[in-house]
Formats: sequence, structure tokens, C-alpha cells
Amino acid sequence: MKKILVTGGAGYIGSHTCVRLLQSGYDISVIDNLSNSKEKALDMVKSITGADFKFYQADLLDKKALDLIFSQDEYYAVIHFAGLKAVGESVSLPLKYYNTNITGTINLCEAMNAHNVKKLVFSSSATVYGDPHALPITEDFPVGATNPYGQTKLTIEYILRDLYLSDNSWDIVVLRYFNPVGAHESGLIGEDPQGIPNNLVPYIAQVAVGKLSYLNVYGNDYNTPDGSGVRDYIHVIDLANGHIDAIKKINEKVGIVTYNLGTGNGFSVFEMIKAYEKACGKKIPYKVMPRRPGDIAACYASTEKAQAELGFKAVYGINEMCKSSWKWQEMNPNGYK
Ligand code: NAD
Ligand code: WQD
Repeated sequence: MKKILVTGGAGYIGSHTCVRLLQSGYDISVIDNLSNSKEKALDMVKSITGADFKFYQADLLDKKALDLIFSQDEYYAVIHFAGLKAVGESVSLPLKYYNTNITGTINLCEAMNAHNVKKLVFSSSATVYGDPHALPITEDFPVGATNPYGQTKLTIEYILRDLYLSDNSWDIVVLRYFNPVGAHESGLIGEDPQGIPNNLVPYIAQVAVGKLSYLNVYGNDYNTPDGSGVRDYIHVIDLANGHIDAIKKINEKVGIVTYNLGTGNGFSVFEMIKAYEKACGKKIPYKVMPRRPGDIAACYASTEKAQAELGFKAVYGINEMCKSSWKWQEMNPNGYK
């Protein structure tokens, strides 16, 4: 049985991917420092799948811990989710973001090198496309970062490319996620933001459950069909399945390859509000506010490359995304607490 090391496996996307890896017959171990997650997420992964696995509460900045972890088991590949992801916080704490995301990835790659594990799947982001000049976005579009978080993702992409160029026995799949939302159908795992959510769907979920009184809609004057921002929301289970496809693909000699993981469809903020109202059976009150600094009008993926080369195709639509988000929120109004 192939063994996969999952960094950040207790987090939102990591926990859903752990479920799909275990259900697909992989053995896993998880490293997470629990800085933005709870161990309970991993207990839930075990109860959904009925499978057991090792959990190392460790920090990627701790090189000794990494060395020890790699010396315990023989890994086929690493899926690397661990890192910090809040765009606003990255502007006020750039050093923390550069250190955690970039140094953490370098430490991980060094440990992999030392233990001869040279297959890596890395979580990048559509944020590396900045404000795209056209839509849909293909993987060869120009890249550029508009905030320290995005800069860390882009820098890591460059580091991984240079790593491969220096030693082409590595195989690296870079996945650029669009906007992951929703939760596992069981309602046992989901997104558990600390404090007031930054992202649209978790914010709507907290309005629906009564923790927040209304949604701020950041701008209704964009050049989009209804004036609100348009994004490519992808169900977290579809995203998790994209990682299974990437792990299968990495069996071939891929070198370093980059794929968008999105649905290819853009939905506006107002469309998401409507879909969520349908899912939860309640009205979502909102107020239109000025645009949020740094936001773009519209963004959605070209899915052709991932479909042709990974065989990846998202199957869930926004109704399922909102329904599963609502189930998780209703069953766990305070997240994992
Ligand atoms: P998350 O915060 O839920 O998960 C990240 C996990 O990494 C957390 O469990 C956290 O405790 C852990 N972690 C952070 N720093 C660590 C360190 N130094 N050592 C060990 N563990 C550490 O985030 P997520 O939404 O699941 O995102 C996973 C990855 O996908 C991240 O790299 C993120 O940048 C990327 N991504 C996320 C989105 C999104 O909208 N959620 C979009 C594009 C890309
Ligand atoms: C979506 C739309 C907002 C909140 C962010 C990161 C990106 C990636 C995914 C990690 C926009 C509007 C939002 C609210 C609103 N993360 N909105 N009211 O900005 O596309 O992407 O998460 O890599 O890097 O930047 O996602 O969910 O924050 O916003 O009106 O309270 O919803 O203006 O149009 P975004 P989002």
C-alpha cells in the first residue's frame, strides 16, 4: 500500500483530502502543528473512514522533527498543504508568512531529499494570476503577486521549479486551487475559521446560523453581469479528488507540472447568496459595501489541462456546495470546539 505524508492534514482541505486518500486505499501520516486546526478534525476523518493513521503534531520549521518523521516510515509521496493562508494577515505579518510558508517548504524538501522521497504535490493558488487579462484562466497566463501571501505561493513555485531543474529525479505537481467551499456530506468535517471569516461562504454560513447579523457584499459596481464579484467556487470534495488524480499522475515521470483546480464556471456573490438561501431555507440579510481593497472583478479557471492530463473534472455544483456547507455549519455552529 502506498504511503503518503500529508502536511497540514488537520486543516480544511487537508482533512477532506485525507478522507479521500484513505477511501482510495492509500495509507497516510499527517504532520500538522494545529496552529489553524484542531486534532478533532483527524478524529472525524478516522470515524468517517474507519481507518487509522499516524498523526505528528509538529512544525515544518522544526527540522529535527521532520528528519525523525521521515526516518520512521517509507513514503511514496508528500502532499503539502501546511502553511498560512490569510491574505489580510499576510500584509500585516509578512515575515511570519515568508518564514512559515517558504522556510517551511524548504525544510520539507530538504528532509524529502535526505530520505530520497522525491514526489511532491503542492497547494498553490489562483491568487498567483493576480488580475487576469482574460477569462478563463489557463495555466500559462502571466503570474504576479499582489500581497505577501500570494508572493509566498509564487516564490515556492519558483523554488520547486529550480529544485527540479537541479535534480530531475523529482516529480512535482503544482495545483492552483480556485475558491474551495463546502464540506464532507457527513457534516463531520468542514471549514472552521478562527474569528470572523474572511471568505464569502464561511461568512454566509455564520449569518445563516445566526452568529453574524448580515453579510457585507464588497461591491456591486464591478463589470460583471450583476455588479458583484465572480469566482470559480469548487466543492472541497472535488478538490480532494483532484489530489488523488495528482497522486496517480505522479507515478509517471512528470517533471514539474502545474494544473488549475476549478470548475470552469464563475458565480457572483449574489448568486451564491441565493444558492445558500435555498440550501438553508432562510433569508441571508446583506448590505452593499465599497469594494474590498485588492479584490478583482472576476476569476475562473480553464479546466482543459487538468481534464486532459489528470482526468480531473469537478462534478458538484453550487447547490451541493452550499448544502454541504450548511449541514456542517448547522451540526457544528462553533466548529470543532
Ligand atoms: P488550513 O489553514 O485549514 O490548513 C493548513 C494547515 O496547516 C492547518 O491545519 C495548520 O494548522 C497547518 N500549519 C500551518 N503552519 C504550519 C507549520 N508551520 N507546520 C505544520 N503545520 C502547519 O488551510 P486550507 O484552506 O486547508 O489550505 C490548505 C493549503 O491550500 C494552504 O497551503 C493554502 O495556502 C492553500 N490554498 C487554500 C485556499 C483556500 O481558499 N482555502 C485556496 C488556495 C490555496
Ligand atoms: C469571494 C468573493 C469578495 C467576503 C481568497 C484569497 C485567495 C484564495 C481564496 C488562498 C469576492 C466577496 C467576500 C465577504 C463579500 N485563498 N466577498 N463579502 O477573495 O476570491 O480569494 O480566498 O489561496 O488567495 O484571496 O475569496 O471568499 O474572500 O471572496 O462580498 O464577506 O466574495 O469581494 O468577490 P477570494 P473570498
